[in-house]
Amino acid sequence: MIKLKKLSNGFEYLQIQNDSATVKIALQGAHIFEYKRRDEDILWLSETSDFELGKAIRGGVPICWPAFGMNNPELPQHGFARTSLFEFISSVEVDSDTTVVDLRLTHSEDSLKLWNYKFELVLKVTISDKLTMELKTTNLDEKEFKLTQALHSYFKLSDISNAVVKGLNNKPCFDALTNKTNIQNGDITFNQEFDKVFQEVDCELILQDKEKTISINNEGSSSVVVWNPWIDKCSKMSAMKDDAYRKFVCIESANAFEDFIVLKPKELDTLKATIY
Ligand code: BG6
Repeated sequence: MIKLKKLSNGFEYLQIQNDSATVKIALQGAHIFEYKRRDEDILWLSETSDFELGKAIRGGVPICWPAFGMNNPELPQHGFARTSLFEFISSVEVDSDTTVVDLRLTHSEDSLKLWNYKFELVLKVTISDKLTMELKTTNLDEKEFKLTQALHSYFKLSDISNAVVKGLNNKPCFDALTNKTNIQNGDITFNQEFDKVFQEVDCELILQDKEKTISINNEGSSSVVVWNPWIDKCSKMSAMKDDAYRKFVCIESANAFEDFIVLKPKELDTLKATIY
């Protein structure tokens, strides 16, 4: 079942429910802000998040596009897609457990002022006992463009002290807090601010929490961002309670820094992440 819902301020989102899962996707940013499987929330959403046009939702899966972070200093942090209004183009109820939804953003007068390229960006979401997100960029311009991007997933935790991220041992990583590149030694646990971009990632990642294990499989990308703001940064961030950092970790499927994409006219790029 798919419903288009509207908040009292006019903010619209899709609610998709099948026998496996419930998903909510805001039209602004094609932003998945809930993925509930067997009544369990897999994604974290800030209790104090804004649901207002022009403000990014805090939590769920923001789409960072056409630039990750400040990879393109001429664009706002994480690009403009997360605050742009997508169009709901299609949905297919494949069977009682599986629904596929497509949302689309194309260039506009406003986007061309920020980033002078014609494009089509489609998010295809497959909802079942897995959540699959395919972010498809087509270059509709006559010149090539460079892209960095991320599916910036916020995973809900019992507590940050229980979180272990596996699969990144021995991978080179850029530490955004020290601006240095080093090699990850072992699994990742958290006891301070953490903001690293891992490179050469070619295997499945595992997030281990106290009671659950989540797998993350990426295609079309070899960079992964792992982020937790910890105490000081969390208290200064928008739409986050002071202790919110205890309840999530971000594991972001990305093309960032050296792992950028160059798209020639008419070419298509797909960044795909599956969470299960
Ligand atoms: C992460 C970055 O991807 O996003 C962090 O690595 C950043 O440096 C975080 O703080 C949140 O960004 P924003 O723009 O949503 O506050």
